[in-house]
Amino acid sequence: MAGRIPQAFVDDLLSRVDIVDFIHKRVPLKKAGKNYQACCPFHDEKTPSFSVNPQKQFYYCFGCGAGGNVIGFAMDYVNMGFPEAVEQLAGEVGMEVPREAGSEDDARASVRTALLAKLSEADQFYRKQLRSSTKAIEYLKNRGLSGEIARDFGVGVAPEGWDNLINEIGKSTEDLSFLEQSGLVIKNEDRDSHYDRFRDRIIFPIRDTRGRTIAFGGRVLDDSKPKYLNSPESPVFHKSRELYGLYECLQRKARFEEIVVVEGYMDVIALAQQGINNGVATLGTACGPAHLEKLFRHVGRIIFCFDGDEAGARAAERALHAALPLMIDGRQVKFLFLPSGEDPDTIVRDEGKTGFEARLKDAMPLSNYIMELAGAGSKLTDAESKSRAHAQVMPLINQLPRGAFRTLMEQEVLDRIGVAVTVEPAISVEQAAPLSPVNEESEETDEASAPQKFAKRARSKTSTSLSAHLISLLLQYPKLISLAEELASLQAEDEDEQLFLDLCAYLHNKPETTLSNLLGYWMAAEPEQAKRLTELASTRLIDIQSGEIAADAVAKDFTDTLSRWTSQQQGGRLRERIKVLGRIPLDQQSSEQKAEMRDLMEKLRALN
Ligand code: UTP
Ligand code: MN
Repeated sequence: MAGRIPQAFVDDLLSRVDIVDFIHKRVPLKKAGKNYQACCPFHDEKTPSFSVNPQKQFYYCFGCGAGGNVIGFAMDYVNMGFPEAVEQLAGEVGMEVPREAGSEDDARASVRTALLAKLSEADQFYRKQLRSSTKAIEYLKNRGLSGEIARDFGVGVAPEGWDNLINEIGKSTEDLSFLEQSGLVIKNEDRDSHYDRFRDRIIFPIRDTRGRTIAFGGRVLDDSKPKYLNSPESPVFHKSRELYGLYECLQRKARFEEIVVVEGYMDVIALAQQGINNGVATLGTACGPAHLEKLFRHVGRIIFCFDGDEAGARAAERALHAALPLMIDGRQVKFLFLPSGEDPDTIVRDEGKTGFEARLKDAMPLSNYIMELAGAGSKLTDAESKSRAHAQVMPLINQLPRGAFRTLMEQEVLDRIGVAVTVEPAISVEQAAPLSPVNEESEETDEASAPQKFAKRARSKTSTSLSAHLISLLLQYPKLISLAEELASLQAEDEDEQLFLDLCAYLHNKPETTLSNLLGYWMAAEPEQAKRLTELASTRLIDIQSGEIAADAVAKDFTDTLSRWTSQQQGGRLRERIKVLGRIPLDQQSSEQKAEMRDLMEKLRALN
């Protein structure tokens, strides 16, 4: 097998191929303002929504959301992989693609094998430790788990202390290096020493569908923070593709009709404890397209079950967006919303198997959820709400693949809202802005009002998280990185947040990079993340097209958002600590604790 393509070559290639030339040879483009446009080659349309931006070397379709740099275009247009697309582009400009030493793939395969072996040894170690930990056994019992279920899920415990695992299976330099690569051990760069990642935690092994342990999740036994710790990405573990509990599901029964996607490890296990054997969970990340494709390989129906809190509602919306493009006929997606303050674990323990199954039966079909989101849960009567609902439902429907389901949905829209679905530029809800981005006039918007429009749109964007917003700003204006200094205190709590921190780390080293080169790097290194970046780059593109936005408005938006996020996290940490202290009765608090409490309250007030 050929070795890897060096990153420097990809950079060089991207600087020599012009995206406009390349696309124009395949899809004739017309100049429209600073950009070029055409009818989109990736979906059926009569008016052009496909736009190519020569400055950014980026294409985007406002109709179907396809977008990317020239390599991405080549990949999607001919349906080929990254290396093939690079070969083709290089061929057009007469460059030879160099490869890193040919044995690279063999070397990577043997690293994977070594990591899996180490992970398996660690798995054995943690399980063995559970037998002698009365504290952990007590904890699991208190949460209603039987020894049998703990065994089926391979639950273990990481003992207290900084080097138990290292002493057990990390003695040689080589062993230690594999432990580090698998994320089980962390290197302290300053001291050139190593320590165990998982300490004093209940351990949940994460297995692939072949039953091999590829990562771990670890939960504290008390109220300390963070509650869960997960293995980081590694050559054998990719969060965006793996589902906790899927292997165990498949072990218990060869065929299911449906799979229930829940939020947490303990939810999966509690369901299994009550005899509901088809629960899986994502690993502290949103449920994305790769997860869903994987599940649809096993079942025709997916039921998302979300906690009854605001985070749950947000997760549901994200899951919907991931699911829409995958809804080919024969697939079904439903949404189960739990009462506020509950999760599947508490519900199934309260209501038992039958109670939970009744809720599953009652879950909301995707079609209803779309209507609910668009505010068309019941039939609308006045013109104003109809037009608003129509504007909101359109971009959702336009993401559905063609087929009977989509036709039925279009009929449903007509019935409920009384307006036909029109297949035209489908801009997502938050971008359903006054301007049609592909039309000539949009290029000539009055300069003075651009920052105002920009600010207004930034405020009106409700469904995008702070981190997603920050990423899209950075992608369009990489130089903003100079304004992101105090990142050390931030902790990623989901995939976008992690992506933002990764992006910052990258830009700190390469502040002069371009959007197209940056995507080229990510496509080679982390294809799943590259997709998300492309998506987020596209959001901001709309602002770019609506005229040059004053640099200070962008910079202000960036720093404001960053500081909102920082104070949200700080506030969260303060509140957690206040909660812990608050549990100690006042007359039992030491004077230090009282002082700390006052200090915490003061800090919280200052933040707000
Ligand atoms: P929850 O906070 O909903 O926890 O996190 P839970 O599953 O109800 O946990 P218990 O019942 O208190 O034990 C849901 C999932 O989010 C991820 C984990 O994957 C967890 O299972 N998570 C949560 C983290 O990765 N880190 C955290 O600090 C918290
Ligand atoms: Mn829980």
